[in-house]
Amino acid sequence: MSADFSHLKALQTAQDQRKILDLFAADPDRADRFSAQADGLLFDYSKTNLDEDQRSGLIALLDETGVGAKRDAMFEGSAINDTEGRAVLHTALRNLDGDDVMVDGKGVMKSVRHTLARMDDFADRVRRGDITSSADTPFEDVVNIGIGGSDLGPVMAYEALKPYADGPRCHFVSNVDGAHIHDVLKGLNPLTTLVIVASKTFTTIETMTNAETAKSWLMKHVGKEGISSHFAALSTARDKTAAFGIDPDLVFGFEDWVGGRYSVWGPIGLPLMLAIGPQDFAQFLRGAQAMDQHFKTAPWDENLPALLALTGIWHNQVCGYATRAVLPYEQRLVRLPAYLQQLEMESNGKRVSMDGQELPYHSGPVVWGEPGTNGQHAFYQLIHQGTRVIPCEFMVGRYGHEASLKHHHELLVSNCLAQSEALLRGRTFEEARALMAAKGFEGDELDRQAHHRVFPGNRPTTTLAYDKLTPYVLGQIVALYEHRVFVEGVVLGINSFDQWGVELGKELAVALQPVLAGAQDGAGKDGSTLNLVKFLKV
Ligand code: F6P
Repeated sequence: MSADFSHLKALQTAQDQRKILDLFAADPDRADRFSAQADGLLFDYSKTNLDEDQRSGLIALLDETGVGAKRDAMFEGSAINDTEGRAVLHTALRNLDGDDVMVDGKGVMKSVRHTLARMDDFADRVRRGDITSSADTPFEDVVNIGIGGSDLGPVMAYEALKPYADGPRCHFVSNVDGAHIHDVLKGLNPLTTLVIVASKTFTTIETMTNAETAKSWLMKHVGKEGISSHFAALSTARDKTAAFGIDPDLVFGFEDWVGGRYSVWGPIGLPLMLAIGPQDFAQFLRGAQAMDQHFKTAPWDENLPALLALTGIWHNQVCGYATRAVLPYEQRLVRLPAYLQQLEMESNGKRVSMDGQELPYHSGPVVWGEPGTNGQHAFYQLIHQGTRVIPCEFMVGRYGHEASLKHHHELLVSNCLAQSEALLRGRTFEEARALMAAKGFEGDELDRQAHHRVFPGNRPTTTLAYDKLTPYVLGQIVALYEHRVFVEGVVLGINSFDQWGVELGKELAVALQPVLAGAQDGAGKDGSTLNLVKFLKV
């Protein structure tokens, strides 16, 4: 069933000339009344152009589209991914001490906790140097080979939690471009390197190609007898990991009810656990578990995932803004925009609703971003003065980890707040004119110069503020975004948990390889593709 946005669109059109600043002028408590807090997180959406009626209309949409019932069905293990007939239970991976969860009448928590205990044990022993390489030396480097959800979650979290990393160094290889694995392996000592092959299906061409290359590299240095102590696998496909030659004791399995882009909480998170240790990894899970609890119990008007989703729906489906920028003022969240691109765009980039009918509105937005302050010196120009409105989602912490660099952090926070203030306030022609007059411009040239310095302002932003980027807080933030994507998907009436859109390109790539290799002609291919094959063929 499709959502009906007509009421919300009418409410929006009636107010489309309104200034967000006027909303603040009319309501001194607006910042408070358009913010919500949960367990140390503050989500401020007062700098959007939403009023009370519009917010109520959005909240009504949650009930009209059955978000609560679907949420409960997800947590209870129902097969809500109905194009693949699967439950959606990444939440079970962080259900550290909650009740059992049933899938097809069978409890899953025993096996989830057993696997987590095996991961803990393995990580502890590697970190202590009790599990050693074929040369009987501790592992100093870990190379994770995986792509998409089997790469982005662990690499994003590893970068984010560097202050907690006291285990082996981690490296991530994802791209099938040989340059990636070449450059990573180049600096490493094979005798002290553990390779983890992370692939839910263990069929993904990029990962299997890189895994074979890593195997040859290790084989050359440690020989056939040594190789098995240098490999571990994270996968649902034990038959395939065995066929690759990985010791079953070094395979960490999970079930098909964990989607790739939701898998960092389980075995796919092993490189992170090796780096930060099981205790900090448990904190990461605890943060996510706390967000799950909040999502399940908080009323909609205080529910962070719901509110984040509703601002997203408002900007994308109601106002028609096609993209949104995610702007963490936290250098260590450098991979978060890429992580969120997969989470949001692979989940909600769909063209039909659950019943297979074409959507009568746009699905999820284009998500992009970069940490501040770097982005300020790159693309913020367009956000401030370009002709398109781009809603911005800022994130910032009260503390950095570098206590001796407090002045850096003050500058970072001031920049974050200044950007959302500038986007809200803008600069009028009169203000720009006064500035330029003070610099000595006059007449037509004064006006011309002033026009270039006008900022329209009134550009919507939200800010997510937290205390400090600890494992717990990262867990909260990632789970918050997962649930946001879930809520948006339910409102849009789509299946957020399949990804058929990546299949066609994969199939065509497999078919093109023999054409490029000269083993097949390109019968049936279009002229452009054939022309490019001709140029690129070696
Ligand atoms: O890109 C499609 C996809 O299936 C993603 O959903 C997934 O995260 C990625 O490929 C990797 O898949 P696997 O873990 O099976 O190698």
